[in-house]
Amino acid sequence: MQRTAITSTRPERATDGPGGWRAFLARLLARLLPTDLRLFARAICSGPQAVGAACPSSKRLADYMAAQAVAAGDGHIVELGAGTGVVTASLLAHGVPPKRLVVVEKSALLAAHLRRRFPDVTVLEGDAADLATLLTWRAQHVSTVVSSLPLKSLPKDTVDQIGRALDAVLPRGATFIQFTYSLRCRAIDWAQDVTCLRSHTVWRNLPPARVNIFAWGVS
Ligand SMILES: C[S@@+](CC[C@H](N)C(=O)[O-])C[C@H]1O[C@@H](n2cnc3c(N)ncnc32)[C@H](O)[C@@H]1O
Repeated sequence: MQRTAITSTRPERATDGPGGWRAFLARLLARLLPTDLRLFARAICSGPQAVGAACPSSKRLADYMAAQAVAAGDGHIVELGAGTGVVTASLLAHGVPPKRLVVVEKSALLAAHLRRRFPDVTVLEGDAADLATLLTWRAQHVSTVVSSLPLKSLPKDTVDQIGRALDAVLPRGATFIQFTYSLRCRAIDWAQDVTCLRSHTVWRNLPPARVNIFAWGVS
């Protein structure tokens, strides 16, 4: 028996087809949002707790962190949780040679983006809790760590592991820079000795953020 294919004469609407209106909305957002925001949104969808922010850092926040980092030491500058690369770009703009910069990012999506955006910078995809292993020989030559890690939203065990990992690579007195959205906070709940040297609020960030500059291993 011959079969006849039945085809609809109804014109195709944007909300039809696989995914319906959600797919349509995703396509619309993909057209409207800049690449960085799109990537950030995708990273949030796959792990909101690990991202710990609603949007990428502002250039003002990144510039302040970068200015603090370049002033300290002459070994490798390690950036943790580089995300879309806003702070990485500021570090380079502040004169850090790409060879001195190592960035660590856990999200495969964002790490791939960082590699494309900064082909001369060493981008390590992995967990900051495994810092010494990731850094290999560079672990002996770290002078500064700049961190955008969401320490307030990560599980306590993970934060403790990151503290131990930093202890293994940072010399006593080395500079550790961390931003937080908790404006009153000048401390990190770590077993390791850290002393807050100074603190600065960047009001023109969404939301406003506090940058804390610590001396590692000093009580
Ligand atoms: C607040 S967001 C990054 C902000 C970044 N300055 C920006 O503007 O894109 C925190 C980043 O830390 C990364 N991250 C979270 N936990 C991590 C871990 N244990 N090791 C390495 N990266 C981690 C997340 O994937 C995310 O990209």
